Amino acid sequence: MARLTGKISLVTGAGAGIGAAVALRFATEGAHVYVSDVDGTAAAAVTAQIVELGHAATAVALDVTRGQDIQATFRTIETTHGRLDILVNNAGLNVRGDFRHMSDADWTKIREVNLDGVVRIARDGFALLKASGRGSLINLASIMGHRGLRQLAGYAATKGAVSALTRALAVEYAPFGIRVNALAPGFIETALTDRVLRNPMIAKALLEQTPLKRFGTPEDVAAAALFFASDESAFVTGAELAVDGGMAAGL
Ligand SMILES: NC(=O)c1ccc[n+]([C@@H]2O[C@H](COP(=O)([O-])OP(=O)(O)OC[C@H]3O[C@@H](n4cnc5c(N)ncnc54)[C@H](O)[C@@H]3O)[C@@H](O)[C@H]2O)c1
Repeated sequence: MARLTGKISLVTGAGAGIGAAVALRFATEGAHVYVSDVDGTAAAAVTAQIVELGHAATAVALDVTRGQDIQATFRTIETTHGRLDILVNNAGLNVRGDFRHMSDADWTKIREVNLDGVVRIARDGFALLKASGRGSLINLASIMGHRGLRQLAGYAATKGAVSALTRALAVEYAPFGIRVNALAPGFIETALTDRVLRNPMIAKALLEQTPLKRFGTPEDVAAAALFFASDESAFVTGAELAVDGGMAAGL
């Protein structure tokens, strides 16, 4: 039995990596998925793949740093469905570098996507999630919000804030039937981590710290997202689920 039958969902940054896997998994489980990305062509390609498999999806060009894009997307969903059951704040990026040399422009770039985008979408999506009566908001945090690693300070700061925002919104949105949870992936093989994981020395060091001795796949994260999206997690809010092969649990 499909676990998201009839649900309406929106995934940001779903043109690649984790977001694309989440969109595909949700659609396979019976949800109508709004596949959104700043790269409209990538969103359309993922949507075409889902539709070809016989599932329901709509492509949206949505830059999470643009208020107009966010509002236009929510207006479309409101007009078409009158509600939103599942909202995944997945869009994210990283600019690596030593913190002491980080430019204002780089910090602004990371912050605008990883934090301001999440804040805006969580705020502007409230009315549609409330209209669902059983809304589920899922934020992509990171192991880096809890652990330090060189050259990732700006990214870590935004992800730590996403974890804090998740807990605060879980409390604030609960009276409206909206659950708010976060996923904290470790190292997942996507374009975001490609350069790091292809460096044999770094990859070896990271695997030594990963009890399950492998990197994660986007599908590993999508499976965890499905739990938060479905009614099987009906009594879970304010939680953060590590999808990291045990990395955060170790020394
Ligand atoms: N890959 C990992 O190891 C890992 C670990 C922890 C957390 N995460 C988080 O998971 C999420 C997805 O990461 P990923 O690894 O799939 O990355 P990715 O680079 O493979 O995909 C990110 C997607 O977000 C889109 N995007 C970028 N800026 C955007 C914007 N302004 N508006 C809308 N879309 C935008 C990109 O076009 C891309 O399709 C991010 O929030 C990331 O921080 C990833």
